[in-house]
Amino acid sequence: MAKPLTLEKILFSQGFGTRRYCSDLVYADLVKVNGVLAEDPEEKMVPENLLLTVDGQDWEFHEKAYIAFNKPTGYECSHKTSHHPSIYGLLPQPLVERGIQCVGRLDYDTTGLILMSDDGQFIHKMTTPKKNIGKIYQITTSEPISTKQMDHLLGGVVLDDDPAPCFAKACEQLGDHLLAMTIVEGRYHQVKRMMAAVGNHVAGLHRTTIGDYVMPDDLAEGEWRWLYQEDLAQLGKSIPG
Ligand code: URA
Repeated sequence: MAKPLTLEKILFSQGFGTRRYCSDLVYADLVKVNGVLAEDPEEKMVPENLLLTVDGQDWEFHEKAYIAFNKPTGYECSHKTSHHPSIYGLLPQPLVERGIQCVGRLDYDTTGLILMSDDGQFIHKMTTPKKNIGKIYQITTSEPISTKQMDHLLGGVVLDDDPAPCFAKACEQLGDHLLAMTIVEGRYHQVKRMMAAVGNHVAGLHRTTIGDYVMPDDLAEGEWRWLYQEDLAQLGKSIPG
């Protein structure tokens, strides 16, 4: 069982601002704990499973943040963007404040599943190719997909920045112009470059799955959700501690 912490520290850990500001939120009657108005920012409580309400917004306590996000097109996965708005602008401020980062990146025009966390170890483990975590992309192509192209992708293609070939782990043709491809690495523009290398062109790219975690049907574009122990298990991970 986690050790008790003051309410002020708990709010701070969740990204609600400086400790002083968190204290002031309590004094301003803007914080409820499990539905009950809090009065003392110094009150100690066990943070696990707490439901905070801060200025009317419900917020589950999570020691570390692990989330799934359904990325819309037209957003960049960085804080300092060059040409398009940042996906961080689509997330609630407390998540950004506590330092949540993307687990790998999607191009600005790619849509679909992206994981985010403030747990550096988790991000590292999820992005190392050694872990062999498959990612499934649905690729809409400009040219019809041929068996020869799929064989080439499965057999390995050489990209211009690295002599080691890049392999598709699996390819499933879903339509004349629609391919589901699984890859385990995360090289720069990997899918687009692999498709170009076999003589086709990506007209649309959408990520549906990471490991065994499939984007939930009810997670709309631009929405996010917490990942729980059972979700992380599908990613081959468990919440530490
Ligand atoms: N491969 C790409 O080319 N782009 C992405 O966004 C992801 C994988």
